[in-house]
Amino acid sequence: MNSKKKTVFSGIQPSGVITLGNYLGAIKNWVKMQDDYNCIFFLANMHAITVRQDPKNLEENTLKAYALLLACGINSEKSLFFIQSLAGETHSQLAWILNCYTQFGELSRMTQFKDKSQQHPENINAGLFTYPCLMAADILLYQPDLIPTGKDQKQHVELTRNIAERFNGIYGETFKIPEPFILSEGASIRSLVDPSKKMSKSDKNENACITILDPKDTIIKKFKRAVTDSEAKVYLSDDKPGINNLMTIYSCFTGMGFAQIEKEFSDKGYGAFKLAVGETVADALQPIQDKYHKLLSDETFLKFLYTESSQKAKDISQFTLDEVKRKIGLCM
Ligand code: TYM
Repeated sequence: MNSKKKTVFSGIQPSGVITLGNYLGAIKNWVKMQDDYNCIFFLANMHAITVRQDPKNLEENTLKAYALLLACGINSEKSLFFIQSLAGETHSQLAWILNCYTQFGELSRMTQFKDKSQQHPENINAGLFTYPCLMAADILLYQPDLIPTGKDQKQHVELTRNIAERFNGIYGETFKIPEPFILSEGASIRSLVDPSKKMSKSDKNENACITILDPKDTIIKKFKRAVTDSEAKVYLSDDKPGINNLMTIYSCFTGMGFAQIEKEFSDKGYGAFKLAVGETVADALQPIQDKYHKLLSDETFLKFLYTESSQKAKDISQFTLDEVKRKIGLCM
């Protein structure tokens, strides 16, 4: 690690599919940051079990997500890219400790907890509630400067800062206080069926969400069906959330500004615009899909990579955990 560079830390749950929202809100930015920062990324498979998972699927999905992130451009020579459960003892131990420095009221205010409790009323487990303490542990163990995520994770990063400041206030400087790092563009990709909601892998309507591995014809079909409005004119406006979302997606892939997009489609209807967005997205995802299938055919190599990197993560995180345990008087 280069000590002059700032450290970036972030992660993603490997449950189910990886969406266009995950890609534009997080992964694409992580890939870009790799040259300028010390980057640490991970698959949050321990977080995934707050929702009931089929064990075989979770294990398979974790391997697939590892391959997919590499295919998206996470470079294991530039970044440390590990799996949470393989570095797990440090994460779960610090999570328990931070539980004891986090207030019930703080956790009750977390929007993700409220949303997921509504989605799974049959399984509002304690892990779902204390999830942000595990997330705070993930982050604080690695003493990072910046946490690049989509908008929906900002509240959790802010809570992490509060917990770290509280701990430092009691025991002296222990944790670096990390900053959320949220790019305005792509930070909140919306559902294609109901743009008032974020695009989410847990959406029951499969037309709501593009996944990185969707075939070209599926991507085009989903964009064709995307909910917009009846005006049939492509421009950015607060009362056109569907069109704003499609313009954002198009802009993220083409690098075009919104004014330029408005000009390109000034004399074209929604049909032509949706087709252009669909084709652009599908063409951009194609090389990622090709690389993913190639990587997935060599499981031994993938396992070698993540075992090695997770051991490194464990060693780095042990350092912070030991300091915390010493400070609070836990026998070691
Ligand atoms: P997860 O797995 O829900 O999402 C991974 C990343 O994708 C972003 N994202 C989106 N961005 C834009 N538009 C969307 N529709 C969209 N949907 C998801 C998320 O903001 C996130 O950056 N709790 C985290 C995982 C985690 C973590 C951490 C992240 C666990 N520990 C420590 C950072 C640091 C989560 O569930 O992300």
